[in-house]
Amino acid sequence: MKKMTEQHLINAFGGESQAYMRYVHFANQAEKEKFGNVARLFRAIAHAEYIHAGDHYWELRHLEGGFVANSMAAFGPGDTRKNLKLAIAGETYEIEEMYPTYIEVAKFQGEKGAQRSFEWSYSTEKMHKMLYEKALESVNSGTDVELGSIQVCEVCGYTLEGEAPDRCPICNALKDQFTAFE
Ligand code: FE2
Ligand code: FE2
Ligand code: FE2
Repeated sequence: MKKMTEQHLINAFGGESQAYMRYVHFANQAEKEKFGNVARLFRAIAHAEYIHAGDHYWELRHLEGGFVANSMAAFGPGDTRKNLKLAIAGETYEIEEMYPTYIEVAKFQGEKGAQRSFEWSYSTEKMHKMLYEKALESVNSGTDVELGSIQVCEVCGYTLEGEAPDRCPICNALKDQFTAFE
């Protein structure tokens, strides 16, 4: 594997792993503040980040040993309002800078597996940002967010509100590959 794409996979694994952990903590905080739907949203999206981390990790199966991961990590946790802002900042960085760049480099280097893994995450993060923005709007006015069932694709992490589709729009997985958070 080309070195630059390989480092990007390592970084993305680090970033997704940390996002997973942050969101689990943010879910616990939302629970304490009685924002049950925001907590459920954090748990669903944490699961999507776990899938992203796993997809990147699998692409690195040729490695053996320890490597340094450089990844964006949003620090300064607080109440749910602040945590949602941190979450939005992290998702925005991934959408606007990290994944578009990683995708282009992987394309240029002919690394198809890495490219696919980055594209799956990139498409998903856009949904995450939208859902967090919706949640922040409610929390800003002091109420829990109104939220239907949240579906997460077990293959690519794609996240949506509502019923699971017959096929995942991103990776084409079947309906039964979706996990519902309701
Ligand atoms: Fe992700
Ligand atoms: Fe995300
Ligand atoms: Fe999918």
